[in-house]
Amino acid sequence: MREDILGRSRVEDTDELVQFYRRLETMGAGALWTVANDIEPWYPQPKSVPMLWRYEQLRPSVLESASLVSGDDAGRRVVMLVNDGRKDLSAAVGLLYTGLQIMNPGESMTAHRHAASALRFVIEGEGAWTIVDGDRLEAGARDFLITPSGTWHEHGNDSASSPVIWQDGLDIPLVNTLDANFYAVHPELHQQPGKVVNTSLREYGSGILTPPTADGASVTPRCWPTRGSAPTRRCSPARRSPTDHRTTASSWSTSTRSPAVRSCRRWARTCSCCVPVRPRSRIGTPGR
Ligand SMILES: [Fe+2]
Repeated sequence: MREDILGRSRVEDTDELVQFYRRLETMGAGALWTVANDIEPWYPQPKSVPMLWRYEQLRPSVLESASLVSGDDAGRRVVMLVNDGRKDLSAAVGLLYTGLQIMNPGESMTAHRHAASALRFVIEGEGAWTIVDGDRLEAGARDFLITPSGTWHEHGNDSASSPVIWQDGLDIPLVNTLDANFYAVHPELHQQPGKVVNTSLREYGSGILTPPTADGASVTPRCWPTRGSAPTRRCSPARRSPTDHRTTASSWSTSTRSPAVRSCRRWARTCSCCVPVRPRSRIGTPGR
């Protein structure tokens, strides 16, 4: 597309130029100025169109899918969101994919990996788990999980009665557009998880923010018990787990010296997200 503007391509075809273009084409080449204005528009030209997906509208179909296809046959049982303008890429918007995955009680999916990166946001259900490169992470509603590019991962639902529905988000269309995607099924179909659960959360869970409650109430600090225990531990909100819903605000107390230091009364002896209490002279009054 020719534009008669200085700085843009405004070359007019001539017989001599047309022959030049043909010679370039035979060599697998071309003249940029013949396409420059098209491939570099003045502003973004999104092909996606505005769309609105309502969870309450999709949820019945998501539940229905759980009885229509097995997890093993589907690989991943997902009702994906497809933008009317990006059906060619199975994208929800732009070059991004998202969908609602459902896992029946007691169900697990086979392990696989791909170049695309993924995130999961658990919408409903208890008992969800994922294993990413051998690290098993347990999750509940409103929890957020990530699966880095190229890592082995598999998911499941340990609940005995209720399905888990979570939202997947991946950059599949982007990676496909870059011709960089691949997909591999784990040679043993399932990973051998490490003996410790939620290790990535313990290592990298500092400073996390948990989502607010549905009614907009303040975030409730949470921590979760494990088998191991220490004589006395102080629970740091910055290291709490977002996965446990058993601890309520009433089981927490706040240090009078520092709002950043709290103790978990209920799990004081068994909370794996707590840090050992240091001498009083170093960090002040121990939590209760
Ligand atoms: Fe995956």
